[in-house]
Amino acid sequence: MNILIGSDHAGFTLKNKIKEYLTHHSYSIIDVGCFNQNSCDYPIIVDELCTKLKVYDVGILICGTGIGVSIKANRYKSIRCALCHNVETAELGRKHNNANILALGSRIVNDEEAFKIVDVFLNTEFEGGRHTNRINLL
Ligand code: RB5
Repeated sequence: MNILIGSDHAGFTLKNKIKEYLTHHSYSIIDVGCFNQNSCDYPIIVDELCTKLKVYDVGILICGTGIGVSIKANRYKSIRCALCHNVETAELGRKHNNANILALGSRIVNDEEAFKIVDVFLNTEFEGGRHTNRINLL
């Protein structure tokens, strides 16, 4: 499993902190940009990540609110992007929606909350069962 991560300028600082946090916990990370704090357009970063995401990969996308990146990511048929503002939504996004991308808002969650959300997202399994059919209907 690869973890792909991307952000716009608003999410750049949080992206770097999450990269450092995950690297410290022995995950290998692929950063698709952006690579500095210059203003940029988040749909382009989302395209970079979504076109690289393979079946067993997980993505993390960050913008100011998480809304823009999640809207764009969910335009891809193979993507189930969950915008999570707390650990509960991260847990249910995995258990019920088999989300393969986590969207975070750097202006919404603080660093500690973001780390907890990422941990839960990466360590929660899809429940399957009744949720499988619903996902197939998306
Ligand atoms: C950038 O200022 C901001 O609009 C963007 O990061 C994001 O929040 C959009 O949804």
